[in-house]
Amino acid sequence: MRRGEKLVFAIMATVVVVVMAKNIFTIETQKQPDKGIPFYTTASQQLTKEASEIYRVQGCRQCHSLWTVKNMLETIPAPALDGIGSIRTEEWFYNYFSAKNPQAILPSRLKKEYSMPSYASLPEHDRRVLAQYMASLKVKDWYLEDTKKMEYEKLTGKTYKGQ
Ligand code: HEC
Repeated sequence: MRRGEKLVFAIMATVVVVVMAKNIFTIETQKQPDKGIPFYTTASQQLTKEASEIYRVQGCRQCHSLWTVKNMLETIPAPALDGIGSIRTEEWFYNYFSAKNPQAILPSRLKKEYSMPSYASLPEHDRRVLAQYMASLKVKDWYLEDTKKMEYEKLTGKTYKGQ
């Protein structure tokens, strides 16, 4: 065989091996049930609509991701809000948004300009709507442990050992 032919042959052989390996892998993973998207909300359409409007106007997505939507130009490592209502209560959110200094409730590892701003000056109604909506953001049980671990480690820089 000439050099060129050898090369073509080698490439074809590699492709065949890769495709075979991929098939075996796919068959393996298909045995596992598909868990799907772990996030959902229990909010009514009305609440979703109202909260989304406040969320947009207040620029929460400048820092946070929710439903995997995030302003891609921003690189602030703020926690993702998907499923957050599974680990905190509506009351907690309300107090957090109402705090003059949110870092007194949840410490920050970030510089002041990147950390969670105070929304104490928002109208009470808006803070309640946001809190209600945040509390409605749920995550399925199997995913909760992973989320807790990720958020904990991101916020504290320590290894999560379970609760
Ligand atoms: C300037 C960036 C920024 C903006 C804007 C911002 N956040 Fe945050 N937020 C953060 C950061 C960073 C944290 C983590 C705590 C900290 O570092 O202060 C946080 C924490 C939170 C938490 C607590 C998360 C947890 O782990 O319990 C909630 C809930 C939250 N933000 C919701 C919101 C909502 C709703 C808005 C809009 C009204 C908003 N944030 C706007 C940066 C931001």
